[in-house]
Amino acid sequence: MNKERILVSGVQPTGRLHIGNYLGAMKQFVELQNDYESYIFIADLHALTTLQNPKELSENIVDIATDYLAIGLNPDRVTLFKQSDVPQVTELAWIFNTITTVPYLMRAHAFKDAEANRSEVNVGTFDYPLLMAADILIQDADVVPVGLDQKQHIEITRDVALKFNRIFGDVFRVPEPLILENVQTILGTDGRKMSKSYKNTISLFSTDTEIQEAVMKIPTDSKGVNEPKDPDKDNIFALHKYFTEGPEFGELRDKYEAGGVGYRESKEILIKNIISFISPLREKRNKLAEKPKEIIEILKAGGEKARKRAEEKMKEVREKIGVNIY
Ligand code: TYM
Repeated sequence: MNKERILVSGVQPTGRLHIGNYLGAMKQFVELQNDYESYIFIADLHALTTLQNPKELSENIVDIATDYLAIGLNPDRVTLFKQSDVPQVTELAWIFNTITTVPYLMRAHAFKDAEANRSEVNVGTFDYPLLMAADILIQDADVVPVGLDQKQHIEITRDVALKFNRIFGDVFRVPEPLILENVQTILGTDGRKMSKSYKNTISLFSTDTEIQEAVMKIPTDSKGVNEPKDPDKDNIFALHKYFTEGPEFGELRDKYEAGGVGYRESKEILIKNIISFISPLREKRNKLAEKPKEIIEILKAGGEKARKRAEEKMKEVREKIGVNIY
């Protein structure tokens, strides 16, 4: 239906993917792959702002590529690539640097958080939104499926596209974010946003033991089995919303409200349901991981295709800004 419409999104290779990445963003990549011409990438240059360990970065890149295939992205339909195979994005990000003001970028939440938590923020972290704008605009994206935490980055992308078009003439499409309203932000085992930096994640391809350990460490109050509990204020129940379905979910909610279910039992139900969600994904991933060379070939081919497309766009940009004098 949207066949010639373009979808672009990416994930940073900074460690193991978690269920927040999947439910918030990546599930949409899979569901929409037949409706859009999709460009899905591994944001390795963005990852450098926090991960400066070459061995780890290389391994993470292959891992994320494997994860993409394991969740069901079909490389015959989707162009899968790594960002560093499209160096044109850094050229475009530079051009965007020159039309964006410092106070404007200082308003970005991610930058403010980094400043609050780290003593010295690198320039890459400050400039992160403009590299992201380049990723998106260079491929002429119409839509960008992301989690709610990336909403501001898409707004910045839209502002940059409009500003460039105003100064140099119409070059960029203005993309829309696709954010699942019912999902918003997936919460972690401590009730805060699920995030690697909070160490509150459940990895998407966890072993049964890891799932068990993560759920068991969810903090609760000291209410006994028969005491009524507010399901909307409980971190275990917050996760049931994603994994427990049908009558089991309704019954659990009733028992929370009336009393009759303890936190231990609630955790056991949650563990069972997370395991049945994760184990088929994990099996598929284990099979794929036996053939890393094939996965690397897929990335290479995708990189070539994405780079060609980006180069075409950059010819237009160089023309518009006035550096193309030959
Ligand atoms: P990253 O790697 O931090 O996150 C990847 C995707 O997962 C989503 N996400 C969540 N969604 C719901 N609940 C959560 N707790 C949660 N945690 C993470 C993120 O919103 C994201 O969609 N800046 C991007 C990478 C990127 C990019 C791009 C994305 C670079 N260039 C161009 C789109 C288009 C990021 O931080 O990903």
